[in-house]
Amino acid sequence: MKLVFATHNKNKFTEVKAMLPHHIELLSLDDIGCNEDIEETGETIEDNAILKANYVRDTYNLNCFADDTGLEVQSLNNEPGVYSARYAGVSHDSNANIKKLLSNLENKENRSARFKTAIALSLDHEEVMFLGICEGEIIKELRGDSGFGYDPIFQPKGFDKTFAEMTLQQKSEIGHRGKAMRKLIDYLSK
Ligand code: IMP
Repeated sequence: MKLVFATHNKNKFTEVKAMLPHHIELLSLDDIGCNEDIEETGETIEDNAILKANYVRDTYNLNCFADDTGLEVQSLNNEPGVYSARYAGVSHDSNANIKKLLSNLENKENRSARFKTAIALSLDHEEVMFLGICEGEIIKELRGDSGFGYDPIFQPKGFDKTFAEMTLQQKSEIGHRGKAMRKLIDYLSK
């Protein structure tokens, strides 16, 4: 079975490909000749994941899944949420995003936060959604240099390390994306 993972991110693609059963031929957006960035105009991460999966299904007539992730900070009314990538204005400027988040949390006691990943699967014109959540807190200073995005300031509940101080495997075992991905894989393996 051919299945598209709607991403241009080579790291994400390799990680997911290694987890999937062998009967699935995984294709990236580049593999199907889709060079554009599919716009994420939804109001929630679930909407964005569905939007991307359906775009591929409608344009290329292929089965597809797509993911979107947001960081929800409790005392900031769950911001940045769906705007996590462009919290400070410019898309994917992690340093600026972290700086803005730490500054907005300066006078807040409650630093609880959670990462949420939504994966939308569009398979034979049916849609299925898988969610993965990782609870934790935003620490006051950056620690660690692995990972990406908000990893250096996110410490998952029950651990004394940030995501940026963990190996990729550790992060994937307890993290939001890994949890959602394992639900998708269970579903596809049946
Ligand atoms: P995306 O949906 O995976 O592209 O994620 C949107 C934004 O959320 C990214 O640009 C990052 O800023 C942030 N983000 C997503 N996943 C993670 C993660 O695992 N660690 C830290 N930040 C993340």
